[in-house]
Amino acid sequence: MPKNFITFRDLTKEEYLFLFDRTRTLKHERYRHRYQRDHLRGRPIAVLFSKPSTRTRVSFECAITELGGHAIIIHLGDSQWARGEPLSHSARVFSRYVSGIVIRHTKEEDLVELAKHASIPVVNALTDERHPCQVLADVFTIIERIDGNELGSQTVAWIGDGGNMANTWLEAAAVLGFGLNLACPPGYLPDEGIAKRAAADNPRVKFMGSPLEAVKGATVVTTDVFTSMGKEAERAKRLKDFKGYRVDSALMAKARPKALFLHCLPAHPGEEVTEEVLESPASVIFDEAENRLHAQKALLEYLIPAK
Ligand code: CP
Ligand code: NVA
Repeated sequence: MPKNFITFRDLTKEEYLFLFDRTRTLKHERYRHRYQRDHLRGRPIAVLFSKPSTRTRVSFECAITELGGHAIIIHLGDSQWARGEPLSHSARVFSRYVSGIVIRHTKEEDLVELAKHASIPVVNALTDERHPCQVLADVFTIIERIDGNELGSQTVAWIGDGGNMANTWLEAAAVLGFGLNLACPPGYLPDEGIAKRAAADNPRVKFMGSPLEAVKGATVVTTDVFTSMGKEAERAKRLKDFKGYRVDSALMAKARPKALFLHCLPAHPGEEVTEEVLESPASVIFDEAENRLHAQKALLEYLIPAK
């Protein structure tokens, strides 16, 4: 059975610790222009999109190239998938051609169905429910900065939409054991099942009444856009409902000294976060974006063993 990465719960803490170590090594090697071209030498990987992307598309294509493989980028709207070909057929067709599937798509249940019928790994590159590749890179970005300190000593404050990013932070806190304080506006809470399970597994997962409460004691503050892909029709309402949930310098000042600011990007400066915070020394947003590449290389190496 191939190993998939559809939710953050698909791997264990031990596997993550291995991946973070490997990510660090791959990052250092890349700075010395050393790649791992033998790993996927000549092997194609299908990278499928039914939503827009900048970082995910480029970081996966670079990762696959640097591992010696070839990325076949497919916009699902141009494929027979969009015309209703059964997923069970698409899964078996892809499995005959390529060594793995990376997919960004709306419905996560489609990824589960794909994985059920595929004989190759399926990697979630964002769904409406989750974004595990992003949080993999985000946690690595924190580890890089804490210099040997235990990840368990960290407390992440999540401010804003309880969407795919918040759901994934909940699962990451459950698996890795760091503290997570969430402040989400009423009506925009994370998935109830994901939240309940995370809180049961990790008593340091807490829902707070306000962003101010959430950042108290936080070593990391993070947020996401108010209007995710696919929610554009709700934008005007969301702008009203998210009033008071913008991360600004006053809020950052209430977190622990030297707290980091993370954002998966793309950001809307002035909306969910001020330009001042994005450009402040606390902000590690471009390290975070870069780390997508290194972390995904480690992930692909692990899920798709060399032949
Ligand atoms: N953070 C992220 O996934 O960015 P893209 O939408 O540009 O891929
Ligand atoms: N929550 C955002 C993340 C983008 C990387 C979205 O789904 O649009």
